[in-house]
This record gives sequence, structure tokens and C-alpha cells, in this order.
Amino acid sequence: MKTINIRVNCVYLTFAISLLVGLTAASRSTAADSRTPNQSQPWMNKALPAGQRANLLLRAMTLDEKITLVHGAGYPTPLKAYAGYVPPNTRLGIPALKLGDGRAGVGNGAKDVTLLPAPIAASASWDTVLMNAFGRVLGEEEWGKGTNVALGPTIDIVRVPEWGRAFETYGEDPYLNGQMAVAEIKGIQSQGPIADANMYLTMNQETHRFRQDSVVGERTLQEIYLPPFQAAIQQGHVGTIMCAYVKTNGIFSCESPHLLSDFLRNELDFSGWVMSDWGATHSTVAAVRAGFDQEMPSGRYYGQALKTAVENGQVSTATLDEHVRRILVTMFRHGLFDRRQPGNWNTNVRTAEQALFSRKAAEQGMVLLKNQSNILPLAGNRSIAVIGADGGTKPLAEGGGSSHVVPPYVVSPLEGIRKRLGKGAQLGYSDGSDLAQAADVARRAAVAIVFASAPESEGSDRPNLELPGNQNELISSVASANPNTIVVLNSGGAVLMPWIGQVRAVIEAWYSGQEDGNAIAAVLFGDVNPSGKLPLTFPRTAMEIPTNAPRQWPGVDGRSVYAEELDVGYRWYDARHIQPLFPFGYGLSYTTFKLTHLIISPQKLTGGQSLNDARVTATVSIANTGRRAGAQVVEAYVEQPKTNGEPPRQLCGFAKVFLRSGETRDVTLTLNRRAFSIYDVQRARWKSPAGTYELLVGTSSRDLPLSTRITVQR
Ligand code: BGC
Repeated sequence: MKTINIRVNCVYLTFAISLLVGLTAASRSTAADSRTPNQSQPWMNKALPAGQRANLLLRAMTLDEKITLVHGAGYPTPLKAYAGYVPPNTRLGIPALKLGDGRAGVGNGAKDVTLLPAPIAASASWDTVLMNAFGRVLGEEEWGKGTNVALGPTIDIVRVPEWGRAFETYGEDPYLNGQMAVAEIKGIQSQGPIADANMYLTMNQETHRFRQDSVVGERTLQEIYLPPFQAAIQQGHVGTIMCAYVKTNGIFSCESPHLLSDFLRNELDFSGWVMSDWGATHSTVAAVRAGFDQEMPSGRYYGQALKTAVENGQVSTATLDEHVRRILVTMFRHGLFDRRQPGNWNTNVRTAEQALFSRKAAEQGMVLLKNQSNILPLAGNRSIAVIGADGGTKPLAEGGGSSHVVPPYVVSPLEGIRKRLGKGAQLGYSDGSDLAQAADVARRAAVAIVFASAPESEGSDRPNLELPGNQNELISSVASANPNTIVVLNSGGAVLMPWIGQVRAVIEAWYSGQEDGNAIAAVLFGDVNPSGKLPLTFPRTAMEIPTNAPRQWPGVDGRSVYAEELDVGYRWYDARHIQPLFPFGYGLSYTTFKLTHLIISPQKLTGGQSLNDARVTATVSIANTGRRAGAQVVEAYVEQPKTNGEPPRQLCGFAKVFLRSGETRDVTLTLNRRAFSIYDVQRARWKSPAGTYELLVGTSSRDLPLSTRITVQR
């Protein structure tokens, strides 16, 4: 509830102020989707390139029409739908922009949609094919609801493990986040909507998010926080980027020339448009000059104020045209002028297929963290105690805030297990509110499964990494009552597990969407062999996390100093030789695997220019040495020469493979060229210092049995 209040107070205050402007504009617009392309308007000629069509259209636009396009106008009337809206221009045939939230399904209160697992769960699959399908499902439902700009994915790095939006992201590694972003963006955009990579940049905490200043060095920006956006732009061809609420080094994201012009336009060659997060615009002229294109959700700075600035010469028409052009080019490029959207906000877009996919994604993302004496899978076990509200009445299937989805249903673990076991199963249940009663229920069963959760929501960070309420005590008392205790966690990120030594097994199920209980039952009973891997580190204690000092998080006097620099996530633990509870990239299976025969090619690279053209591959042989079929993730990490000043190991490639029992396959990883380079701040460019780079390959950041070398020469 707290989150909602914050959103109402802060975001929608700005929103409400300028809603008047918006509503007038919105009511001017009529049936956007019923427009008929007028072939006498030359920009409607589909045969012309997007840039040319945009130029032709731009020439026909009045100042008012241009201004209308660079800011939001509330909601389409009379419907209250979507997160943002730009009215159509019927004179010129410009379709409306309908911007919809969607990280784990269509948001903004839409009905009859599919609730997918949280993005962190899909990322934990380490399967880019699955992530692409995740994007396709999301894109299809958004498009079916009339949305043509999908506000997602959230591709920021989980720097602070308590971050209230960790569940919305892909985790703590720049390379993993980048690859997942590419897969999801391509999926979304393949279905019609333009995707929106957010939140740009250094949006890594909720506390003080409307005024917080991230103080971060240039090398860290380049090596840790920019790469997901670089991948989203250069490989994913994302159409829009959302600039964040926060400041980076003293300047708000949506008016930062360094972030918007130097990085996005000049370095990354981004040709789409930048919209603000809701209420994240703070100026007119400064924002325009910085390279910022579109204010959301209103026109406080980019409405009348911008018009006046153009009229009095503070902003040139040519500059305004550049911003308008970026929006138009992107709309043309993505077919928004040429394709009709059959559905609208009231269309039922959920299907049985999407529900199946939701279940599959949840199953593939589950991470088996502990499995002492192979207590799992529970095949044939019919006397089970289900403990915890999460297991029964209140399964926590999603995170809160703008990514909230109205689920059509949520299958609870109790229902899922009951269905899986069929008639005759002895199922006990306790919601865990009374510890003695819960222990009693546990004592009477052969196996006790405690369902525990840590809620996360936009608007506030978790106070710490403890499971809230009495859940730690609950797990301990159940474990004392029944030696066969299993814990299933619903969380959006790391939690501390003081009881880890007392329980036999732990599954991290994340927020697993509408099929929560079915997916959990499938993993518990071995219908699905778990193959998820942690996309973020689970620390052993609160003392050892990288952002432990108050000046790092939540910050002092509104400044959060990124003092850990490059040592984000597992890089920190590795650099300090701290053994976390469960490391990045870790996850068990019901079968066993063996890796052999690592070969890298080429073994030598020449530094400088030619490195950019090098295609480095690593091939490794992997065998399923156990009795069950299963999937494994092959992970490659690079260890740079000490003198490069890099963290000890960094993920540079991965691939997920499925193997039948006894099967062996060769897997080829294409390595990220960045693996062999560092950012040179003085020269403002990437370079590859000469030296020997070690390549380590294995199945977790702390289990890397194979290694080989690659030499970079001058
Ligand atoms: C969030 C965005 C979201 C927007 C629109 C903001 O508060 O930070 O992620 O897209 O609201 O709902």
C-alpha cells in the first residue's frame, strides 16, 4: 500500500497538474484506429524508407502538431486505460501512441491477461530462447490490448540486493542482463509493440528515487551500467528508452547531455526516442538541449512551455524537429502507420497457450539451491504438510508497483500439490501464523514443505534481506519438528537463510506467476528437472553485501556513492574472497553433468582495432552422467591480467543445453569481445591491453573446472 501512496503522491501529482492540458488534447482526438491511410499523403507510401517518410511528414506538421507528439496527454477519453497516451492526428494520419506497462504481463489494471513469472525468474532460466518467447507472449498481449509502446523490459543492474524492483530485472551481471534484454526486446517487437528499455541510467534503488543522485565513476558506468543498454540498442534494436527518475553525477537523467547525447546518440548510435519516466522531466530548454525527446505522462515542460521556447527562439525549430523526427522514424520503422491493431483495452487476450507458457517459464526459472541426500524429487510421497500462507491462501506470485498485473487466477502450491498427487494423498496445511500448530502439522507428515516469501514493490526498498515476519522462526520450528523439511521461496531477489543448516532442501521459485502452484509441484515431484541458475548472489550475512555502507545505500543527503565501483554483485565477493551462501550462476539439478575438452579459438588476438572484428569461440563437451534427462547452463568467465584492474572473474558467455541421460554434446559459446577489453577513461574509449587472459568454464561462478588461455598481443 505504501508504494501505491508514493506513486499517487509523487508521480501523479505532476500528472494531475497537467492532465488538463492532456484531456483537452485527448478529447480532440477521435477514432485513431478507424483512420484510413490517405494515399495522397506521400508519407503513407510504405515503399519509402522510414527516414524519408518521417521527413515528408515533418514538413507537413504545424508547430502545435509537433508539440502534441513530444508529450503525453493523460488517458484516452473516456477510457481510463494504458499508462500513457499521445492522441492521434487525424489530419495527417498519425496514429495515437498507447503506452502500456508490462514486465510480467499487461499492466495498468487490464483484465483478461496472462500473469507471467517475474522477469528475474525468466532470467534465472539462463535461456535466451525462453526469454524471447517471454517477450513474444508479452508483446502479443500488449498489442492485443491496443498498446503500441510496451514499457519494458527493465534492464538495470541489481546493485543493491534490497532494491524493491530487483524482481523486474534480469539480475546483477551486465552481460547476462544485456543478452536477456536483447532476447526479450526482439520478442516484444516481433509482435507489434515498440519496446522500451528502462530505466536509463543508474536506477538501482527505490529509496529517495525522485531526487537521489548516483555518484558513479565513468569506468564503472561504461563497464557495468551501460552494457545492457548498449546490447538493447545495438543487438536488440529497441525503439525507445526511458530516462530514469534519478540523477547521475548531479544531473537528472532526462536532462543529462552526457547520458543522452554522448552515450546514447554519439557512442551507441541510438536512433529511437527517449521518453521520461512518469514525472521524471524537470526542465524544458535544458532537457531539449541535452537530447531528451518526449515527456511522460504530461506536457508540463514539453507542452506550452516548449512551444513558447520555440516561439521566442530559445529552442530552434530544427532542434524540435530532431526530437519529433526520432519519434516518427521509430513509429514508421515499427509499422505503426501501416498496421491496424484489431483489439482494444477490453479484448480478452489470454489463451490456454499463454497459460502453458507462463507455467513453463516459471518451471524453467526455478533454482534448486540445496538438496541434501537427494530428498527431492518427492516421487511417490503422499504424506505432506504444506506450511505457510504462501503455500495456501496467499501465494506471492508477482511483485508490486507499475508491473502489477491483474491475474486471472493464481494456482496455490496447495492446489498444485493436491492436483499432482491425486486422490488418497494426505495433505496437511497450516498457514504458519501459530508456530506450535504449524510444528504439529509438520510432525504428523512424512515431509514438511514451508512456503516463505519476501514481497518487493516499486516505490520502496526492502528494509533488509531477512524473510519478513515470523518466517525464520516458522522454518526453524517446522525443521525441529520434522527432519524432512523443504523450503520453497517466493522472492524477487536474495534472502538470508539463518536456518539453512536445519532444512534438507531449498527451492527458489521467485514470483512465479499465475501457474505458481503447478510449476512448484512439477519441480517438487520431478516432472520437471530444475535447471535454473541464480542471476544474483545470495549472501550468507548482511555484513558481506557490496553496498553495506549507508553512503552507498540508501545514501547520505540524497547521494548514493557507488564506492564499490566495478565490484558489483559476485565481482565483490570474488575480489574479497568471501564465500556467499549461494553464488551467482549456481543451481542444482536432479541429474549430474561433466564438462571436458575446452578449446578456445583463436588463441591469440591482436590488440586495437582488429580486436573488434575478432570472433572468439569456446567449445566444450558436456555429458549428462546421471539417470535423468535435464538441462545445464555452461558458463564462461574471463580472468583478465591483474594489471588491467578488473574484478577477478566476469561472465562473458553462456549457453543452456538439454541432454538425455547418458548423452554428450559439444557446446560452442561465442564470447563477448568486451571480455578482453577495459574502458580507458583518459582516452574515452575501449582498449585491449596486451597480456594473458584466462578463460574459465563451468556451471556456476564458483565451479569452474576447465580453463584455457587467450593472449592479446600489441
Ligand atoms: C515507473 C515506470 C512505469 C511508469 C508508468 C513509473 O513510476 O517507474 O517503470 O513505466 O511509472 O506507469
